[in-house]
Amino acid sequence: MKVSFVLNGETTSVNAPSNTRLIEVLRKDLALTGARPGCLYGTCGFCAILLDGELALACMIPVFRVSNCEVTTIEGFMETREFRDIEIGFHRAGTVPCKFCCSAKVLTTHWAITSHPTPGSEDLRRAVRAVHCRCTSYARFSNAIRYSAEVRRKRLHGRKR
Ligand code: FES
Ligand code: FES
Repeated sequence: MKVSFVLNGETTSVNAPSNTRLIEVLRKDLALTGARPGCLYGTCGFCAILLDGELALACMIPVFRVSNCEVTTIEGFMETREFRDIEIGFHRAGTVPCKFCCSAKVLTTHWAITSHPTPGSEDLRRAVRAVHCRCTSYARFSNAIRYSAEVRRKRLHGRKR
């Protein structure tokens, strides 16, 4: 099946069996390896991408589902100003994600602070739980999200609010 979609801002087409997982197509056909295969059943969050701006799990999406949609992977997101906000936020929190979870944490943070520009404790909890990292404390990841939100608010509005 031929599937056309917008990938990181560029119109893209792939030929693959319609039920092929999006993560396989991204990694094998399109050489985008930032989204990581972890559990492959929708639990660990390591395969996070943005699908039409919403956080989604590439292991749970059959490729036909993205036809005419907009897919953003970490490779495309890294080119944005929003990425820089998050990079600063993580640095300020003193946390450096490993290569395995980095893309998931960054995209999850983006989704969290886009949905909730001033995230409350429940928003932070939901975001932190979306990525099953056992090596960074809850507090550090949560602070990274909070600081990223502050940086973005300051960039957009000129002050912390
Ligand atoms: S690999 Fe997709 S959620 Fe674990
Ligand atoms: S899985 Fe990457 S820092 Fe924990």
